[in-house]
Amino acid sequence: MAAFLFSSFHNYVNLQLNTQASILMDQYRVFGNPIAQSKSPFIHQLFAEQTKQNINYETELVALDQFTSAVNKLIANQGKGANVTAPFKEQAFALCDELSERAKLAGAVNTLTFSNGIIYGDTTDGVGLVNDLLRHEIQLQSSKVLLLGAGGAAKGVVQALLAQAPDLLTIANRTLSKAQAIAKQYPNENIQALTFADTEHLAFDIIINATSVGLSGGNLPIADQTLKSAHTCYDMVYQKEPTAFLKQAKALGVKNNIDGLGMLVGQAAASFELWRNTYPDVEPVLAALRAKLNE
Ligand code: ATR
Repeated sequence: MAAFLFSSFHNYVNLQLNTQASILMDQYRVFGNPIAQSKSPFIHQLFAEQTKQNINYETELVALDQFTSAVNKLIANQGKGANVTAPFKEQAFALCDELSERAKLAGAVNTLTFSNGIIYGDTTDGVGLVNDLLRHEIQLQSSKVLLLGAGGAAKGVVQALLAQAPDLLTIANRTLSKAQAIAKQYPNENIQALTFADTEHLAFDIIINATSVGLSGGNLPIADQTLKSAHTCYDMVYQKEPTAFLKQAKALGVKNNIDGLGMLVGQAAASFELWRNTYPDVEPVLAALRAKLNE
């Protein structure tokens, strides 16, 4: 009995110490709605272990009208930064005191940094995508790149793709005006906006899906011959099984078919570097995440 009581007391003390330690740590959150599915705490915990950083990173489900108060609460409680996911990226953009150039172009923010009373906003999605392509030894420079979609996901990666100096970046979208509006933001770049039908007789090296179509399991309205012309198809989303887009590409014999898990880890690594000033090794974290996804 005495041993049991001692052990219970010991556990209680440990719990209190752990709770206190995590309260004293620099706090980070990922804000979203829904958020339970987020892999970000897992990724950032591994980054922190690897780089010996003492941080606490958790998910936070935020009610649709509570984003600003969630941010302020975090700042008041040792908050040093946060990731922001759907549907708050535009609200985060509007809330920032200062913004990176790439966040201004994207009109959205996925990374908040709190420092000296200032909220600084950046977007690391584009660099996450580009770094993942480069990691796969896919050369963007001088390539013909087709980006499918013109929603928030597409808009967030255009600047980073153009920074790699592709021969031409084509944005194809169901609603042409949205693709045109993005292209207009970059008047001095090799960029054009088309409908899906317009792409039918064109050839590309790299095709990137930034539409939400893959998630619902449907096929994109893109011609087989257009898909076949590419050596690489990249889907910005990921799931346990290959997405409909990647299945379609593989069936047509496209050489490299890559899902967005590496982009997820890449954008997290870029956020982590902004906060902690050290760039983690993405490779082991991506391997651990892939294994977890296949569990
Ligand atoms: P996100 O923030 O994920 O990009 P979004 O802003 O709603 O979400 O954009 C979704 C993208 O998927 C858009 O490019 C959308 O095309 P429209 O701009 O024409 O709406 C595209 N999309 C969604 N469903 C589609 C479908 N069935 N066929 C083709 N494109 C589709």
